[in-house]
Amino acid sequence: SANTMWGGRFAAGPHAIMEAINASIGFDQRMAAQDITGSRAHAAMLAATGIITKQDAQAIDQGLVQVLAEIETGTFAFSTALEDIHMNVEARLSDIIGTPAGRLHTARSRNDQVALDFRIWVRDQCDAAITGIESLMQAFLAQAEAGADWVMPGFTHLQTAQPVTWGHHMLAYVEMLARDKGRFQDARARMNECPLGAAALAGTSFPIDRQMTATALGFDRPTANSLDSVSDRDFALEFLSAASICALHLSRFAEELVIWSSAQFRFVRMSDQFSTGSSIMPQKRNPDAAELLRAKLGRILGATVALFTVMKGLPLAYSKDMQEDKEQVFDAADTLMLGLAAMDGMVRDLTANRATLEAAAASGFSTATDLADWLVRELNLPFREAHHVTGSLVKLAEDKGCDLPDLSIEEMQNVHGQITAAVYSVLGVQNSVASRTSYGGTAPANVRTQIARWKEVLK
Ligand code: ARG
Repeated sequence: SANTMWGGRFAAGPHAIMEAINASIGFDQRMAAQDITGSRAHAAMLAATGIITKQDAQAIDQGLVQVLAEIETGTFAFSTALEDIHMNVEARLSDIIGTPAGRLHTARSRNDQVALDFRIWVRDQCDAAITGIESLMQAFLAQAEAGADWVMPGFTHLQTAQPVTWGHHMLAYVEMLARDKGRFQDARARMNECPLGAAALAGTSFPIDRQMTATALGFDRPTANSLDSVSDRDFALEFLSAASICALHLSRFAEELVIWSSAQFRFVRMSDQFSTGSSIMPQKRNPDAAELLRAKLGRILGATVALFTVMKGLPLAYSKDMQEDKEQVFDAADTLMLGLAAMDGMVRDLTANRATLEAAAASGFSTATDLADWLVRELNLPFREAHHVTGSLVKLAEDKGCDLPDLSIEEMQNVHGQITAAVYSVLGVQNSVASRTSYGGTAPANVRTQIARWKEVLK
């Protein structure tokens, strides 16, 4: 039989396969609460503007509250024939209250309805992401504070570069996460315009009050162009983009954890709660959570590319292609929230091996740049020449199988006659990091200043 919602001009109902490809109820039931919130605001507005009676609006409102309760308690029977959450809710409302239910859809289309519901859903997820990010920033901040002056090797090309502090490394992630938070805040502010009232695409001839529904639903204002309102999925694309960059940051730290927790590095120990064992190798402590976090970005980025691809060729206004927006965003949001929570737990539980970090910091000629800088400062050598002299000293140490501080003053003077014993003071890693006081540098004093600043910001 023909569809009860739109079947007026149809003699026959859809083929089973048509129904299967057309239905979104399997996933868009996740927007039930948003749909009902939107409908309640719409009905209240229709009554306030005299488009429907107060009695009908009241019946609609009470019915919708009951429908939501049925959905939340799991007694609601979702129907694929009714395609999506919008028609499932309305059909059930009609069962409960009868005729007035048919007045709810006045001056509205599923096009503005779905644009509204999805926007509210994504807006909620921006808030959840911001909360998760703030918590993770606190976790990194606590790590930074615990080891503000612990020395570790800093890398470029994953080769020992210069000593840095653990606190500085942890604060690098606080900076990244702060930008992530900013992206979700920006996206949220930009998406906070209400599309309800755009109707199918052209607006409506009913005297609706879009300012009223926008305000009731927590939006800053109604959207200004009805065509754009039902065509636009920028809010979802922006959410996915912000989620992708955030997940990329989680993935990079996950990669560092995988490296750092290896037997070759031993920089950190992940807690039992965030490690797994091997069923054959009893010694194993595998960083599965970190590995999974590294991989989860693939899903989120995949969702981002998928929605860009869905949207890129669509003429205005609504096309059914856009129904493919939700699963991508749902999965990306779920993945991001799980990832943030997992990283939060891992970071809070993480133990850094201070002694291992410091020993590693001192290896690999990590203070060679300090030596070159000393030659510039004390002997007034041009930096290029200082670089060359230092390179010769590194080669000498390497040939001898020792570190730079182990070279005797005679050996140093054979390479450059004016070097004095004062040079040894800059070859220690503590001195090295302590000297990096340029703004944004790794010195413990800087790290403590930045920790204090972040504590103020996150308070
Ligand atoms: N289920 C649809 C979606 O997710 C709702 C909008 C349907 N609109 C339409 N004109 N068929 O996009």
